[in-house]
Amino acid sequence: MSKVIAMAGKGGVGKTTISALVTRYFTKHLNDPLLAIDADPNSNLGETLGLDIEKTVGDIREDFMKDPQGVPSGMDKMLYLEMLMNQVLIEQSAFDLLVMGRQEGQGCYCMVNNILNRFADKLEGNYKYLLVDNEAGMEHLSRRTSGKVDILMMVTDYALRGLRAVGRINEMLDDLKLTVKHKGLIVNRAPATLNKAFLDEVEKIGVPILCTIPDDNNLLEFDMARRSLLELEDDSPAVVAIRDMMEKLKEILD
Ligand SMILES: Nc1ncnc2c1ncn2[C@@H]1O[C@H](COP(=O)(O)OP(=O)(O)OP(=O)(O)O)[C@@H](O)[C@H]1O
Ligand SMILES: [Mg+2]
Repeated sequence: MSKVIAMAGKGGVGKTTISALVTRYFTKHLNDPLLAIDADPNSNLGETLGLDIEKTVGDIREDFMKDPQGVPSGMDKMLYLEMLMNQVLIEQSAFDLLVMGRQEGQGCYCMVNNILNRFADKLEGNYKYLLVDNEAGMEHLSRRTSGKVDILMMVTDYALRGLRAVGRINEMLDDLKLTVKHKGLIVNRAPATLNKAFLDEVEKIGVPILCTIPDDNNLLEFDMARRSLLELEDDSPAVVAIRDMMEKLKEILD
């Protein structure tokens, strides 16, 4: 079964950036196949990885719902949807990317969702690792059929508000049909030393800190220049922080 790494945290704290940096780590340091899943309806993981996204799983769902009779004659619905899904998968040499796109509108999507979920499960079996960049909520994670996360990376900025959001997600986890094997905090844009009020709140939440990432100017420059974060230098501060974290997680990921 594939190992699942997933991001959680409030809006704008760095989930997509960290997903891209973890993808970069995989492409540079591990040879095992990785499927990155952009589960944010305002998808932008592809952009940070320098990829153009033309179609998403959501687009397929909508097209199919608008014209359920559009299946080529003589073709099974399931096969047809699978064929369309294969077109959405973006294949790179070191990883693949699947963009979920918008969520369903009104109407009964059960049948098409079932087929798409079944396809996703089958697809996921081809990869040793899955990386899921989530929206600020936990919608996608709670809908996953396999319901297992090996490492939940709970991202916060260096602010009590971000941290409390992570605390609420942590409390919510018990209500979700989701098995989380390991979870840890990532404090993004953090100073070298965290202050006492912040550390006290971390202790209250009871989730260990996996890593702190400093403010990294290269991220801003790359964003402005629309450059792929895969091209960041090895010594860029955020890259170094993610590498150290991933090395520490090696045993869990093996
Ligand atoms: N360590 C960092 N140093 C400098 N800039 C950063 C850092 N981390 C993230 N950023 C910048 O902060 C912005 C928001 O980051 P990002 O898009 O990764 O957040 P997000 O949690 O995915 O947001 P959303 O909830 O909207 O999906 C981006 O412009 C990114 O370049
Ligand atoms: Mg994001």
